[in-house]
Amino acid sequence: MLTTKKLGLVLGAALLAATPFAASAQEAPAAFNQCKACHVIGKNGVGPNLAGVFGRKSGTVDGFKYSDAMKAGPTWDEAALTKYLTDPKGTLPGNKMVFAGIKKPEDLAAVVAYLKVVK
Ligand code: HEC
Repeated sequence: MLTTKKLGLVLGAALLAATPFAASAQEAPAAFNQCKACHVIGKNGVGPNLAGVFGRKSGTVDGFKYSDAMKAGPTWDEAALTKYLTDPKGTLPGNKMVFAGIKKPEDLAAVVAYLKVVK
């Protein structure tokens, strides 16, 4: 028979197991899936490594071959990221990221919030 004490232990273990996921601020939102084909966190791929992108000058990740347009871009704060990800081509004409932009405001906000903390 399951005693109250045993049940408490089982519940406690379940809570402990669930905590790391709930506490992670760096879990990518679903909207980031559309970036993953080109952006791998932690290394350069088709696109540059986005770890630590927030507060960084555009076009400055070592070992990535940027376009001149991206090298001449902004420092990535919230406003700059929001504008760029809404309309990459229109915001930085000549940059080589082939992506139409994030249309849904809630997706955009989720991705920008993620880029703020991803390391
Ligand atoms: C088809 C590939 C592709 C997709 C999809 C893509 N990117 Fe990019 N991204 C690139 C490339 C290539 C560059 C570099 C552009 C250049 O040098 O002109 C870039 C650059 C960037 C930069 C500037 C980084 C820096 O170091 O200055 C940010 C920020 C960025 N992408 C975010 C995103 C996000 C967020 C998404 C998804 C919503 C996304 N990208 C989707 C290919 C892609």
